Amino acid sequence: MTDDRIVRTHAWEALDSRGRPTVACSLTLANGARGRAVVPSGASTGRHEALEQRDGGARYGGWGVSGAVNAVNGEYAELIQGRRVSDRVDIDAAVEAHDGTQNLGRFGSNAALAVSLAVTVAHAASENAPLWSTLRGPRRPSIPMPMVNILSGGAHAGRAVDVQDFLAVPVGASSFTEGIEQVSRVRAACARLLDERGGWSALVADEGGLAARLDSNEAVLALLADGIDAAGFGGDEMAIALDIAATQLVDGDAIVLAGEGDRLSVEEWIGVVAGWTQRYPIVSIEDVVGEDDWAGSRAVTARLSHAQVLGDDHFATNLERVRRGIEEESANAVLVKVNQAGSVSRAERVVFEAIGAGFETVVSARSGDTEDAWLADLAVGWGAGQIKVGSTMRSERTAKWNRLLELESEGDLPFAGRAALAGQRQPTRVEN
Ligand code: PGA
Ligand code: ZN
Repeated sequence: MTDDRIVRTHAWEALDSRGRPTVACSLTLANGARGRAVVPSGASTGRHEALEQRDGGARYGGWGVSGAVNAVNGEYAELIQGRRVSDRVDIDAAVEAHDGTQNLGRFGSNAALAVSLAVTVAHAASENAPLWSTLRGPRRPSIPMPMVNILSGGAHAGRAVDVQDFLAVPVGASSFTEGIEQVSRVRAACARLLDERGGWSALVADEGGLAARLDSNEAVLALLADGIDAAGFGGDEMAIALDIAATQLVDGDAIVLAGEGDRLSVEEWIGVVAGWTQRYPIVSIEDVVGEDDWAGSRAVTARLSHAQVLGDDHFATNLERVRRGIEEESANAVLVKVNQAGSVSRAERVVFEAIGAGFETVVSARSGDTEDAWLADLAVGWGAGQIKVGSTMRSERTAKWNRLLELESEGDLPFAGRAALAGQRQPTRVEN
């Protein structure tokens, strides 16, 4: 075995797709191999996520990460110097122990994750193997089913409407490559309809989707369904996924729909969402109630179990929360974001736990992401089954799609297909 010990660690402040600073890290090994990675960052962040360190002060409006960069170049460089990247799980554990806090907030989860990702990438380089093939997962590697953002509201689009993310899922596609082409037709059809209905398709939201400037959440949902029709797809070919990101809408015991001037009880709100799942071909629904509303989450899962019920902020890629969710059936699928967890191996444990318990997993980018494409390989290598990256445009999004298109074109990996979704059913659209 060649000498895969770390001989040089170098971190710097890079920019994410929102123009905010983020931590980038490059490692050099004794055998000459190198690994480089850039960390993403969310906007609708959950309370239970690992904690980024931001500088505050005047630079970049307080969003600077020079403190986290200094931690990597100082503390962490010393800690990992001479360690072998093939021991990447031990390196993650050493970094976590050195930080000493559960949420990695002392030196910053952005510092910890930069090290973890760069070690993972350097390990693959050292093995001269594709990144996906060096990961450990509970299932065989596969090309994931894409869940693609078409229209955005919430924190990603100046609160154009309350629901954050309206997505298309090419459930009838026989390959990833075919699915992406189909979804891009849906996006184009929705852009035309948005112009006709007084939205403005020239506005692009944080994840490359259309900013959904219509009167109500349901008007946007109807537009997406019409766009799917106009693009020539039936409900068994192209389905809808929603990310409500409801933690952003919670006010005390109520769910506040600011765009519609409505204030609903959680029960009423679940009734509204259940109505949508009757009228539209919705196959997946994320964060319907507030992140800490376990009773509400159980009610959603019981009521909508014909669909995939996905926990994002609710689980925060946190093993303890996922275990509780499995126990209490507060969802049937887990959104996996490595920067919520703080390290690749922590996220990996969540994927094992979820799939081992019969839950499904969706590997996800962040709304502030970068041109780095490691996420695609993680989804493939873990056999996660599904991936959510944003729209079919903007380079930080297409970087991940392009990597998956590359891997599928090589012909060795199977496409996970619609069976990857939890609670899979034949979706139907009932006219109201
Ligand atoms: P975020 O959005 O990266 O802003 O958290 C993505 C999501 O909520 O799924
Ligand atoms: Zn989400």
